[in-house]
Amino acid sequence: MATGVAGPLPCPPPGRRADRFAVKAVRATVELQQKPTFSQNLLTRFNKTEFENLSETNIMRKRLLTEGAKELSYEIREIVKKANQLKALGLKIHWENIGDPIQKHCQVPEWIKEIVSDLAKNNDSYSYCPSKGLLKTREFIANETNKLGGVQITPEDILFFNGLGDAISTIYSQLSMTTRIIGPSPAYSTHSSAEAAHAHSSPLVYHLRPENHWLPDLEELENKVKYNPNVAGILILNPDNPTGMVYPLEYLEKMVKIAKDYKLCIICDEIYSKITYNGAHAHPLATYIGDVPGISMNGISKQYPWPGARCGWVEYYNRDKDPEFDAFCRAIDNAKMIEVCSTTIPQLTIPMILGDPRYPVHRQALNERIGRRSALINEILSDVPELYFNPTYGAFYNTIVFKPGVLNNRQSLPIEDPKIRSLVEKWTENVPSLDYRFVYYLLAATGVCVVPISSFCSELQGFRITLLEEDEDELRLVFTKIRDAIKAYVASAN
Ligand SMILES: Cc1ncc(COP(=O)(O)O)c(C=O)c1O
Repeated sequence: MATGVAGPLPCPPPGRRADRFAVKAVRATVELQQKPTFSQNLLTRFNKTEFENLSETNIMRKRLLTEGAKELSYEIREIVKKANQLKALGLKIHWENIGDPIQKHCQVPEWIKEIVSDLAKNNDSYSYCPSKGLLKTREFIANETNKLGGVQITPEDILFFNGLGDAISTIYSQLSMTTRIIGPSPAYSTHSSAEAAHAHSSPLVYHLRPENHWLPDLEELENKVKYNPNVAGILILNPDNPTGMVYPLEYLEKMVKIAKDYKLCIICDEIYSKITYNGAHAHPLATYIGDVPGISMNGISKQYPWPGARCGWVEYYNRDKDPEFDAFCRAIDNAKMIEVCSTTIPQLTIPMILGDPRYPVHRQALNERIGRRSALINEILSDVPELYFNPTYGAFYNTIVFKPGVLNNRQSLPIEDPKIRSLVEKWTENVPSLDYRFVYYLLAATGVCVVPISSFCSELQGFRITLLEEDEDELRLVFTKIRDAIKAYVASAN
């Protein structure tokens, strides 16, 4: 029996209309066959194995999902679904899961609100902006970077996004599938998930060591780079989320040296670059990258803070040094162009706010408050013997790690409400890692909502907290609850 048609239809002879010719050609071909069934036709038009992979019960004729989709998860918001179930049962939730200063009652100063509201009254503010972002804003940022005295850029080296989250997913999506960016573990999961999803594989990591102030294991990094020719770049988060570590210059310089020796680029997420305290300073990538190709990422979500603005940008460094890197940057620009552009009003505010003499004063005051909270948390949690605890110096998170062997699957916390107890027992039946069990019990017993550290691309057992609570009494209450819960949980089944 004849099988269906495969391959292109013949070209129409000169002077014949293509559409009519095509219809006739199809009719003739079908008549030549003994009327194949619908599924036989499908089998010839689609890759056979793909077709066979679909079960009889599938409605869709084609698999929709990419292999990489299983890498996409964001526990920072997943945990909210569980907390909301408990809230509906009457439990008061203390939100320690998300890095949103506004949600934790940080007040945006009036002068910033006035700038935003004046812009909102101007009709021009409502238009699209150029795909790369507003020229005036890019000029302002290029000038700020050039003033640092390191690598020099022009406004053409800057591209705006709808939040840095948008930049992160766009950048990894433009990488060839076998090309890998090695990143830290633990890691802010938007990076590790997007990189892993693009590669259809698990994330490739170098470890930040809690027993060494969360500094990176550079020997491991170099070995992984050396023996894996697919690694094309190193990701650095400075200051780091989720650990609150700020890189010493000597570490950054060694990482750039590795990049230079093995012909890699550097991607550096600097969204917390203006948020340091306890005497720390975050060295900007522009000042130590030398002639290595690199991308710096930044945004206003944390700097103002205005996370709801969805406004971030990238700066390309040394694109003239390597044509492959330059082509990659152009592809990222084109990906944004296809999308049209990013949000206009937040970009308009940048020179007006970051260029205002009141801005550094405002940021300094916020940083001092974060530093004080960091000290208070140290006071409460630093001498629990079952934990690795490191003081923080930047961003507004801390990662608290249980020492090896401390957690087991028999530990629990007393919960009076039977409905809440039965929910948590169900959740802990099948957890991906023991720190989820602790986090669920902590949530159900105390209402404190933190995020398991194993969800940050890490084999460590622990949890991430934020340093954002503006109300000092509430802060003290929450962290005392956490400390007491750790002690009770560990003691419940040693
Ligand atoms: C390290 C890091 N990069 C990027 C982002 C995303 O920022 P945006 O709000 O600009 O999407 C965050 C948000 O928490 C972050 O912590």
